Amino acid sequence: MSALPTAVRPYFRAMQQQDVDKVIAIERRVYEFPWTIGIFQDCIKIGYVCRVFENQSDIVAYGIMSVGNGECHILNVCVAPEHQSRGLGRLMVDRLTAIAKRNKVRIAFLEVRISNERAFELYCGMGFNEVGRREDYYPATGGKREGALVLAKMLY
Ligand SMILES: CC(C)(COP(=O)(O)OP(=O)(O)OC[C@H]1O[C@@H](n2cnc3c(N)ncnc32)[C@H](O)[C@@H]1OP(=O)(O)O)[C@@H](O)C(=O)NCCC(=O)NCCS
Repeated sequence: MSALPTAVRPYFRAMQQQDVDKVIAIERRVYEFPWTIGIFQDCIKIGYVCRVFENQSDIVAYGIMSVGNGECHILNVCVAPEHQSRGLGRLMVDRLTAIAKRNKVRIAFLEVRISNERAFELYCGMGFNEVGRREDYYPATGGKREGALVLAKMLY
């Protein structure tokens, strides 16, 4: 479904502090429980891998990953609603894991809400497997909590 022709691929680059306003605007449109501005600012400040896809000065997708001790954790992958289902989510995960591999990372982890079938399909289609569950990991509507699936993929 989602092979993106090279000619229309947005530009992939590091997220800067001055991008955070645009990033948070997408974050708030997409997630019911969005990250705060401070979380994005801190991720950039402490040197996490923070990347965006940019299309004619518009940010259309972003990804955040921590790397250390031979592992990486994909912490956020998000595509602006009007750009979803065109291959950008897959491409972002691809680019993040390529960076991890260049840093000698052997295994990638991430968490996904149990109800997030779309993201689950994306990650499973890219070779991630369920390796655990975390109960009550995420906030949910009505003051409830929702569990997370822990997914992992060997990178080499
Ligand atoms: C999940 C998300 C990152 C996927 O990015 P995307 O650019 O929309 O997805 P892609 O076009 O790259 O598609 C990759 C795979 O995702 C799944 N997918 C994409 N759109 C889908 C849809 N409308 N319905 C079901 N699955 C879908 C498919 O498995 C697809 O693989 P295929 O192309 O082989 O069918 C994006 O939808 C998003 O930002 N969602 C909201 C934020 C979020 O949930 N992030 C993940 C947190 S863990």
